[in-house]
Amino acid sequence: MAQQGCFITLEGVDGAGKSTHVAWIAAWLKVQEISLIETREPGGTPVGEHLRELVLHQPMDLRTETLIMFAARNEHWRTVIQPALARGQWVLCDRYTDASFAYQGGGRQLGAPAIAQLEHWVQQGLGPDCTFLFDVPLEIAQKRLQSGRAHADRFEQEDHAFFERTRQAYHERVQAEPGRFVVIDACGSIEDVRRQLTAALQVLVSRWQGRDGTLAGRP
Ligand code: TYD
Repeated sequence: MAQQGCFITLEGVDGAGKSTHVAWIAAWLKVQEISLIETREPGGTPVGEHLRELVLHQPMDLRTETLIMFAARNEHWRTVIQPALARGQWVLCDRYTDASFAYQGGGRQLGAPAIAQLEHWVQQGLGPDCTFLFDVPLEIAQKRLQSGRAHADRFEQEDHAFFERTRQAYHERVQAEPGRFVVIDACGSIEDVRRQLTAALQVLVSRWQGRDGTLAGRP
């Protein structure tokens, strides 16, 4: 079987600080000579980026919103992520299906079963190998959001109860798949978060090397 790359996703409620660390994680992996693509959801393809604009700014029914997330994801998964993994590249994706469980399933209260059905239809049992969940109490997340944003999108404008449900749904994802998640305590300084990330990335890279003695994605 062809060597597969490792699929890493980053998650957390808005304001958890995930965006601060994406580029740093990518740079860290590249220093290990890992061939990597960086991408994001919703988005990651020309179709997906159009859908992102729509879903972040246009009021719509919850099912429409959910289907758009998965339409963008289907395009992304089939045309970008899967081909890259099959070539042996690593993929670092800012948000993925856990965000649909958290935001649409939890925050908007659609529930997990509907999301699980769409996940199965689009991904057919495949998904991330490792997910970093940036976790902070909501008070900190909201403060960071208020200081960092000029124009809030439809999700960032939601209230405290929405984000409580979203955060809770993320924690349920961790409980369901503890082996896939690394929960990062994102309350501290940037250096503190980087220390946690470095430790987790070292484990991940050596685990991947151990699978067949080589580092997937090494050019
Ligand atoms: P985000 O990564 O926060 O973008 P940025 O930090 O650049 O503003 O993602 C945009 C929003 O999309 C975020 O509020 C969560 C939301 N979202 C969902 O509601 N469901 C999903 O499936 C995905 C992927 C994102």
